[in-house]
Amino acid sequence: MSPAQLLFLIGYRGTGKTATARLLAEKMGWRWLDADALLEERDGRSIRDIFAAEGEKFFRDRESAILQELAGLDQYVVATGGGIILRSENRERLKQGTVVWLQATSDVLWQRLQADAATAQRRPNLAQGGLAEIEELLHVRTPLYEACQDFTVDTSRLAADEVAQRICDWFRAASVEA
Ligand code: S3P
Repeated sequence: MSPAQLLFLIGYRGTGKTATARLLAEKMGWRWLDADALLEERDGRSIRDIFAAEGEKFFRDRESAILQELAGLDQYVVATGGGIILRSENRERLKQGTVVWLQATSDVLWQRLQADAATAQRRPNLAQGGLAEIEELLHVRTPLYEACQDFTVDTSRLAADEVAQRICDWFRAASVEA
């Protein structure tokens, strides 16, 4: 069976989902969007502010509702939030598309997040913060990312354009084989 013409990028914060989505859509001749940016735009607040004012459950409910909407798109690349895989209903919904898991080691993720100005402004701490938070959450989430993915790229030593190219090559090959 041909892979669905809707690519979801999943993975931890700092794996480059948004940058890769944009570059990949360009290569595929598709459109792209960032599910978290859409959520923030609709709510009129940053995710950090939503977490602070309403708590995580409120955010996760919004995140699931947006995923439900996006799962019907065609010829789109969608960058998802790092915690999208936490709910089983979301994992089921992701499977309506083709799911690509972007991985990186915890050390690389910590370096990238420290260097990223958006981290402080937009991103709430999800546990104790720092490298320990990344290690703890990756421990819980890795089997969930794994269970959803159709294809995985280790981004630790790759630029976003190389990641996008690998996904594009894989998707084209998988479409021809089918
Ligand atoms: C989260 C990751 C964030 C955002 C929210 C929660 C998580 O998305 O959805 O802060 O649980 O890992 P990014 O992966 O785009 O930073």
